[in-house]
Amino acid sequence: MGRMPMIAGNWKMFKTPTEAVELVSAIADLLRDVPEVTAAAEAVVCPPFVDLKPVATEIESGGANVKLAAQNVHWEQEGAFTGEVSVPMLADIGCDYCIVGHSERREMFGETDETVNKKVKALLAGGITPIVCCGETLAIRDAGEAEAFVRGQIRGALDGLSAEEVVGTVIAYEPIWAIGTGLTPTRDEANDVCRSIRATVGALLGQPIALQVRVLYGGSAKPDNIAMFMSEPDIDGALVGGAALNAESFVSMLTTARDYA
Ligand code: PGA
Repeated sequence: MGRMPMIAGNWKMFKTPTEAVELVSAIADLLRDVPEVTAAAEAVVCPPFVDLKPVATEIESGGANVKLAAQNVHWEQEGAFTGEVSVPMLADIGCDYCIVGHSERREMFGETDETVNKKVKALLAGGITPIVCCGETLAIRDAGEAEAFVRGQIRGALDGLSAEEVVGTVIAYEPIWAIGTGLTPTRDEANDVCRSIRATVGALLGQPIALQVRVLYGGSAKPDNIAMFMSEPDIDGALVGGAALNAESFVSMLTTARDYA
């Protein structure tokens, strides 16, 4: 359906500004000579807040087609919110995307479907595309509730949004038990949930939107298993943690993803 594959590297709380510039420069070095890869598959890096500006500058000078994403945002435009960062700040730096509702933020920093929804609305209003994360715990999966749980998260995240607003939004299905553990769902298990996510978007906003929304898989995705996920019809790419902290491994995944464009 013309959905461009995406590999998004979630750097989490890794890389100082100096190290972040080194990593994105290494990625740009590898990609500069293969423009056909980034023409067909989208490379996204998601560094910590303090790294965004130096990484943006490095991307600009590096001559490679790499997109920039933040890992979080506040929903207000500005105000007395010590320690928070707003959409206009990210837009000024040149962020294309922003991760919202990562399970680590839901578990450790009190993020809820309601705050995810506020952040999604603020991002879309400010011209930044949200990468909305969802995913179940092992207990929920073992209870046979994974799809119902994730559908609820998606309804919450997209509540009150119009089809026009949601066009192009990215959703990342990340089973919590697969994140950083080396465990992964089978290809069928992963695709079943991704298909269910797409069906939920279709029920809320119409089938044309569902067919345009990209759904990524995340959780121990790496060069060795990316082809398995990419070959599934409802999986359009991956949100990658550990394996994205190395330039060769990130570019290898991107190169594989491109084969599924
Ligand atoms: P992982 O992390 O690839 O290290 O499992 C994925 C994520 O949390 O986005």
